[in-house]
Amino acid sequence: MTSIDPANATATTTAHVSPADGSKRDLAPADLSGRRIYGLLTSVVVPRPIAWVSTRGADGVPNVAPHSYFTVISSDPPILAFVSTGRKDTLRNVEATGEYVINIADEATVAAMNLCAADFPPDQDEFAWAGLTPAPSRVVGAPAVAESPVSIETRLIEVRQYGNGFLVVGEVVHFRIAERVFVDDRVDPGLLAAVGRMSGSTYARTTDRFDLERPTYAGLREQGRQPVR
Ligand SMILES: Cc1cc2nc3c(=O)[nH]c(=O)nc-3n(C[C@H](O)[C@H](O)[C@H](O)COP(=O)(O)O)c2cc1C
Repeated sequence: MTSIDPANATATTTAHVSPADGSKRDLAPADLSGRRIYGLLTSVVVPRPIAWVSTRGADGVPNVAPHSYFTVISSDPPILAFVSTGRKDTLRNVEATGEYVINIADEATVAAMNLCAADFPPDQDEFAWAGLTPAPSRVVGAPAVAESPVSIETRLIEVRQYGNGFLVVGEVVHFRIAERVFVDDRVDPGLLAAVGRMSGSTYARTTDRFDLERPTYAGLREQGRQPVR
């Protein structure tokens, strides 16, 4: 498997001088090029979780590619969505078979995940290129990425086009999660070490975290808190 040592990955920091007056910049989408809007959106909607989607084509060729336009739609029943920007092999396979696996990329698999994003022709198997193991799934026909700590087997509900995005919505039919990431019955985020996508080729780790209790209205009232403006 293609791998990197995340401890030695290039640190990405930006040194810049911000205007001290708190001024804001106004931008109308109609005045911006598609490329600029893409750059803005992918710079501000961050960090994005990554659905590393594995499928099998109607011809049997396995496929796996990352999609960072990815979210939970419902937990009861469990429904997830990702977006294919334009028509790609993943989308074609999902439409042809109605089944796919969403794998989670962690620090150990991030380089392999990135390699899967190369513009391979449809007859090329990204598993083979990235040195990944296609594991048989429990419920669906699509293979899972054996090296991923989490594989979520999913059945297609619908594909809906919005602009240049094809929203792929599917119901989870099976979770396969590495025992090593559990502490009791919960997945420990530090053990999972999932990665998120920033813009371009920049990624974020999920190992630097902090906790913030969510307040309740009743609790705030008990503390004698009032609106402050
Ligand atoms: C971290 C990462 C996230 C990506 N997210 C998306 C995405 O949300 N939607 C998309 O269409 N392509 C995304 N891409 C690009 C696809 O992975 C790439 O176009 C890939 O070749 C598609 O493969 P396929 O043709 O086998 O489906 C992403 C690439 C990377 C590296």
